Amino acid sequence: MSTNTVDNSRKVTTRRLSEMKHRGEKISMLTAYDYSSAKILDQAGIDVILVGDSASNVMAGNMTTLPITLDQMIYHGKSVMKGVNRALVIVDLPFGSYQGNSKEALASAIRIMKESHAEAVKMEGGSEIRESIERILSAGIPVMGHLGLTPQSINKFGTYAVRAREEAEAAKLIEDAKMLEEIGCFGMVLEKVPAALAEKVAKEVSIPVIGIGAGGGVDGQVLVMHDMLGINQGFSPRFLRRYADVADVMSNAVSRYIEDVKSGDFPNESESY
Ligand code: KIV
Repeated sequence: MSTNTVDNSRKVTTRRLSEMKHRGEKISMLTAYDYSSAKILDQAGIDVILVGDSASNVMAGNMTTLPITLDQMIYHGKSVMKGVNRALVIVDLPFGSYQGNSKEALASAIRIMKESHAEAVKMEGGSEIRESIERILSAGIPVMGHLGLTPQSINKFGTYAVRAREEAEAAKLIEDAKMLEEIGCFGMVLEKVPAALAEKVAKEVSIPVIGIGAGGGVDGQVLVMHDMLGINQGFSPRFLRRYADVADVMSNAVSRYIEDVKSGDFPNESESY
C-alpha cells in the first residue's frame, strides 16, 4: 500500500489521529455508553467513541453531568469496549475523580484503563488541573483535554451559553490549549466557543482539536449520539444537526406492538412453537 492511501480498516490510535490532522482528514467522534450502540457506530466507521459523562443526562436522566460516578463510567466503558474493534475509545473522568488531587486523579484514570480496557481518558479544564493531567500522562495514559464550555463546572458558570466571547476568556483558552499541547495531551475537545476562536486554536496547536458547537474550522466534530439520532428530543441547540428521528421510530413501533398484543394479533402461528 502506498503511504498516501488511507486504510479505513486500521485500528484508530492516538497517533493515527495526529496523522489525520496533519494530512487534513477530519476526525469523526460520537458518544456511546453501551455495547449494542458502540458496535453499530464502530461498524459504520466512526473514528472515535467517547464514553462521555453525558451518560449522566441521557442514560440516567440527571439534569447535569455531576452525579455520575467513577464506577458507573467504568461500567459504561467496559460495555462499549466489548462492541468496538476499530474506533479509539475514550472515557470521561467524572466530576470529583480528578480535580484538586493529582494522586486521586491518577488512581481514577488507572481504574478506568484497567477495568474498562479503554484507550484514553478525557478531562475538563486547563491550568487548574495541570498537575492532575501531568501525573496521569506520566503513567503512560493518553489524555484528551476539554476546554470552553465544561459542563462539570456548570455551577460556577451558571449557564450553558457560549464561552470565551470576551477577550480575556479567549486569551486564557488559547493559553490553556497551548499548555495541553505542551504537557503532552494527544488532543482536545472545544465546546461551545466562537468558530473563529476555535479555528485559531486548531491552527496554533499541532494536536487534533475536536469541536462541538465550535464551527467547522477545527480538526473534527463530536456530538452526543442521543441528540444527533433524535432519541433525546427535548434538546435542540443551534449547533446540533439531527440525522434521524429515532424517538419517533421507536414510539411508532411500540404503539403497533401494543395494538397487536391487545388485539391478539401477536404472536401468530408462525411466531409460536
Ligand atoms: O460527555 C460528553 O458527551 C462530552 C461531549 C459533549 C464532548 O464531553
